[in-house]
Amino acid sequence: MTSPPSAPTRATSSPRIAVVAGDGIGAEVIEQGCRVLEALAPDLVLEEFDLGADRYLRDGTTLPDETLERWKSEFSAIFLGALGDPRVPSNVQAKDILLGSRFKLDLFINLRPIQLLDARRCPLKDRGVDDVDMIVFRENTEGLYTGIGGQFKRGTPDEVAIEAELNTRKGVERIIRAAFQYAQDHGRRQVLMSDKSNAMRHGHDLWQRVFKEVAAEYPSLETRHLYVDVLAMEMVRAPQTLDVIVTNNLFGDIVTDLGAVLQGGIGLAGSGNIHPGQVSLFEPVHGSAPDIAGKGIANPLATVLTAGMMLTFLGRPELEERTRLAVKGCLDDDQVTPELGGKLSTVQVGDAVLGRLEG
Ligand code: NAD
Ligand code: IPM
Ligand code: MN
Repeated sequence: MTSPPSAPTRATSSPRIAVVAGDGIGAEVIEQGCRVLEALAPDLVLEEFDLGADRYLRDGTTLPDETLERWKSEFSAIFLGALGDPRVPSNVQAKDILLGSRFKLDLFINLRPIQLLDARRCPLKDRGVDDVDMIVFRENTEGLYTGIGGQFKRGTPDEVAIEAELNTRKGVERIIRAAFQYAQDHGRRQVLMSDKSNAMRHGHDLWQRVFKEVAAEYPSLETRHLYVDVLAMEMVRAPQTLDVIVTNNLFGDIVTDLGAVLQGGIGLAGSGNIHPGQVSLFEPVHGSAPDIAGKGIANPLATVLTAGMMLTFLGRPELEERTRLAVKGCLDDDQVTPELGGKLSTVQVGDAVLGRLEG
């Protein structure tokens, strides 16, 4: 296997981890993720935070400022399940906790590896593990996610709704630089920037210019550009040509769900929301899956891989490699949940992972 998709680290002794199970299948998958952390890194101090839809419905709390302050000063990382609950149609708890953490902790790198571990799981014909091995650097603090905009004459025939896309020089530059630096540090050959500068001529022109400027500082790396529609096509048509991908917030969200399926499914995709050297948040790419919540059949492997990413962030990449080998072993031996054609429950997949880690 290639080197772990490690990120800039925040290594300390006995790191404190804030655990937020969240909504829906969040609690089911995070429980398995915590078992993995306890087995691999018993010195970690895990502290649970009761946040999410239940808490919000109980007392109106989403993400208190004091909690955020404690995370900043006392914790190395946050380990999150998922947020989103049909009982809260406004999704305010998800916005406040997930987007709130990303913005207020300035977690500008959303790191999303797309790596096929078991060739049989790829939906593309005749593709092997070497064909799907890319990593997305999704900008995570601006773009179309800031909520800048407004509604005018709401509910009338003359209604206007504006959602502004924010692109700052600082924000664009730091995510592009992070992608190049990662590529250089990890022996990757190419950095691809994806935008829609043919249609979005102001913000994405900035991405074009900054990409060229930063690329000039990394002459040993190949550079490539694709409009995001073509990137979506190429991920399916020729994934073996893709390596490190850097893109904006919304495009990164969309292409990483597509990428998750190339890996074998949304239940296999891990991610980190990272500010190097500061408290950072790790969560699977998938959501709270209300359709299967409470049934005990959610796939915990994305959360296991996410735990691995967090361990690399904590300065222990050899432990991430062990999580990936354990997940690969489960996939190879069909120790998987029903959406992957298996018969195991969430807990049984967790047992299988633990057995491999301990064996
Ligand atoms: P989703 O990812 O929750 O589910 C999409 C589909 O994938 C569903 O059929 C679901 O059953 C399946 N799925 C997802 N994770 C799975 C797993 N681990 N094992 C097996 N199957 C799995 O996306 P959605 O349905 O669009 O969103 C549900 C809620 O989650 C929404 O409120 C959404 O906003 C939220 N959401 C949260 C996050 C997050 O917290 N990071 C991410 C995405 C969506
Ligand atoms: C993700 C999710 C979030 C996003 C939602 C829940 C706001 O889809 O983390 O991929 O769009 O970033
Ligand atoms: Mn998403």
